[in-house]
Amino acid sequence: MTQHRSRIAGIGTYLPTRIMTNADMSALVDTSDEWIRERTGIAQRHIAADDEYTSDLAVEASRAALAHAGLGTENIDLIIVATATPDLTFPATATIVQHKLGIHHGAAFDVHAVCSGFLYALAVADNFIKAGQATNALVIGAETFSRILDWTDRTTCVLFGDGAGAMVLSAGGEGEGLIKTHLRSDGQFCDLLYVDGGPSRTKTVGHLRMQGNQVFRHAVGKIAGSMEELAGMAGVPISDIDWFVPHQANQRILEGVAKKLAIPVEKVISTVGRHGNTSAASIPLAFDAAVQDGRIKRGDLVLMEALGGGFTWGAALARY
Ligand code: ACO
Repeated sequence: MTQHRSRIAGIGTYLPTRIMTNADMSALVDTSDEWIRERTGIAQRHIAADDEYTSDLAVEASRAALAHAGLGTENIDLIIVATATPDLTFPATATIVQHKLGIHHGAAFDVHAVCSGFLYALAVADNFIKAGQATNALVIGAETFSRILDWTDRTTCVLFGDGAGAMVLSAGGEGEGLIKTHLRSDGQFCDLLYVDGGPSRTKTVGHLRMQGNQVFRHAVGKIAGSMEELAGMAGVPISDIDWFVPHQANQRILEGVAKKLAIPVEKVISTVGRHGNTSAASIPLAFDAAVQDGRIKRGDLVLMEALGGGFTWGAALARY
């Protein structure tokens, strides 16, 4: 039986208009542009307005992705939002997005895997499509991490930003589309990167806490391992892959993974300097930037990868 692939029919993104530079950051906490750039590669990040919610960012990105795909909202029968910063504890942000897009058919739900969330959402949508349960899925990564940062903690607040990216995944890909996804998690590392509040334990929203150097230590090995495993399962040598679209946590992690797998750094799409770490939104934001500037073209082999809180991690290989 020929297995049809899920095609990446379109991609779109949205960034809030307010830009916060490293100089702005050093007015808040004891840090400097030099420290942030040297340790992370980040120069600036976008911050959502007080009345701009994760669902609003997701809706803007979805509209752009639908326009790129040449599809209307009537074509969408599945919406998955990957987010760790939902509008509300419930309902799912995906249902709020569905309502704001004027869609009243199909199914909508959230996926929670923090910075790997987009890969998890992509894998779920791909499986829905392959099982014949969906035809056109909106797969969205949308975050307002500025809302869960401790703005007095210089070790975390300088790293993150807000934004959203969406892909339209459609049935009917033959040579093109998602080739394979590889998902991993290991909850023993949950204390290294977490939010110290939640409805059940503290009845609060909480703030992001991270042992950055510990996370860093795990990131390169786990991400590179997942990429190698995926490439092996797909029968595609790493050297045949045209573009690498990593989760944008830190320029040094991006370069560490590239070095470990002997990937030329020019093949690694990096937007961390302009966006900071936008968690689940970072892969589609980086992917779209490279489509817009003409680097990623139709037919190119693209590998996406991420590691996030949990830990969760993984990779996805697609022929765009
Ligand atoms: N400005 C100035 N100094 C700082 C800052 C800052 N913003 N932050 C920390 N420092 C200081 C520390 O206090 C420490 O000072 P000390 O030596 O006097 O104690 C010194 O800088 C070094 O601190 P480290 O934490 O060892 O610095 P490191 O080189 O590890 O860089 C960083 C920190 C950028 C956080 C890095 O560890 C990192 O990027 N980690 C991974 C983050 C990541 O990948 N997250 C992934 C997923 S995110 C998600 O899932 C939500």
